Amino acid sequence: MSDLTGPAPTCHPDQVDDASPGGMLDLAYRLSRPLLFSLGADRAHELMLRTLSFAPWFWGALAAARPDESLQREAFGLPFAGPVGLAAGLDKDGVAIPFWGKIGFGFVEIGTVTAHAQPGNEKPRLFRVVEDGALVNRAGFNNAGSAALAERLRRLRDRGAWPDVPVGVNVGKSKVTPLEDASADYATSLERLCGLADYFTVNVSSPNTPGLRELQERSALEELLPVCVGAAGGTPVLLKLAPDLEDEAIAEAVELSLEAGIAGIVATNTTLSREGLSRDPHEAGGMSGRPLWPLARRKIGVVLEAAAGRLPVIGVGGIHTALQVRELLDAGCVAVQLYTALVFEGPGLPARIHRDLSRSGQEQIRKP
Ligand SMILES: Cc1cc2nc3c(=O)[nH]c(=O)nc-3n(C[C@H](O)[C@H](O)[C@H](O)COP(=O)(O)O)c2cc1C
Repeated sequence: MSDLTGPAPTCHPDQVDDASPGGMLDLAYRLSRPLLFSLGADRAHELMLRTLSFAPWFWGALAAARPDESLQREAFGLPFAGPVGLAAGLDKDGVAIPFWGKIGFGFVEIGTVTAHAQPGNEKPRLFRVVEDGALVNRAGFNNAGSAALAERLRRLRDRGAWPDVPVGVNVGKSKVTPLEDASADYATSLERLCGLADYFTVNVSSPNTPGLRELQERSALEELLPVCVGAAGGTPVLLKLAPDLEDEAIAEAVELSLEAGIAGIVATNTTLSREGLSRDPHEAGGMSGRPLWPLARRKIGVVLEAAAGRLPVIGVGGIHTALQVRELLDAGCVAVQLYTALVFEGPGLPARIHRDLSRSGQEQIRKP
C-alpha cells in the first residue's frame, strides 16, 4: 500500500521568488562549473566526490537546507524529510552520506554496491551532452564492495553521525558472479548490510553489467526476489526497473514483487535509447537526464497502473523541476529521485525544488 501520508504542499503563490537556496556552495559550484566541465566527466566526478568525502559535514553546512515541514511524508515506514531523494550511482561507496541530507534531499540512496569489490569499466566511462542536460555512462558498478560499505555505515552509526534522513543502499550483482548464482551474490551483500541501511534497492536494471537485465525476467525474479526479502531481515526491499522493459514485463515484475513481499518499485534506471539527444556521443552505456524524461514518465505511469496503489512507487528519470515532481506525486508516486540534474544545476537543486513545491501550487511552479 502506498504511504503517501504527508499533507499536500501549502500554496503561497505570492511567495514564489527566484532567490536560490543552496547557499555559498551552490554559488561556488556555479562559478566553478566551466572549469569542472572543462575536465573529463570521470575526472570531475572523482574530484567532486573526493572533496566531499573529506569533510561532508563542512560542505553540507555551507549549503544547509532542509525541506519545509509540510513536505514530510512517510514511505516504507520511514520518515522522508521531503519527496525528492538522491538517486543511486552518484555516491556508490557512501563516502559523503552526511552531505546529501544537508543539501536538502529528503532521502538518500547510495550504491550500487556488490558482494565483491570491483573496479568498474575502463575510463572514460562517463560522457556529458551538455546542451541536452544528459549523461551517458557505462560505469559498471565500480565500488569497494558491500563488506567495506558495511564497515563504513557501522562507523557512521557508532559516531552518531547517521543523517536525519533515510539512507537506502542499492545492491547489484558482482561482475565475476555468473548469472545463475546471482541470488546468492545479492544475499551476501544484503546480509552484510542488514541492520545498517534504512531500506534496500535490488538493482536488476543497470545496462552496464553483462546479463544483469535478464534478471528482470519472470523466472529470474521468482527466484531472486524472495531470497532478497529473506536476506534483508525485515528491512524494506525495493526493486529498480529499466525504462526499456516492455509494459507487460513491467506488470509481471510488479505482480511478482507483490507476491515476494517487495516493499516498493523504483522506476526507472538509465535507458539504452538515444531518443531526444540532439547530439549522440556514440558511446555505449545508459542515458540519463532530460531526454530520458518522456520515456521514464511513460514507464512510471505503467508501473503505477500495474501497482494500482498496492505498492509504493519512487519515480526517477530526467527530473529537474518541481513541476515534474508535482506531476509524479499527483500521478501517485510516493517520492522521486534525481541524479543527472544535480550535475548540471548544482547542489542547490534539491532545496530549490523543495522550496518551489512547498511555496506554490502546480501553476506557480517554475516551468522547465
Ligand atoms: C553516472 C551514473 C551512474 C549510475 N549508477 C547507478 C548505479 O550504480 N545504480 C543504479 O541503480 N542506478 C545508477 N544510475 C541511474 C540513476 O540512479 C537514475 O536511475 C538514472 O540516472 C535516471 O535518473 P536521472 O535522469 O535523474 O539521472 C546511474 C546514473 C548515472 C548518470
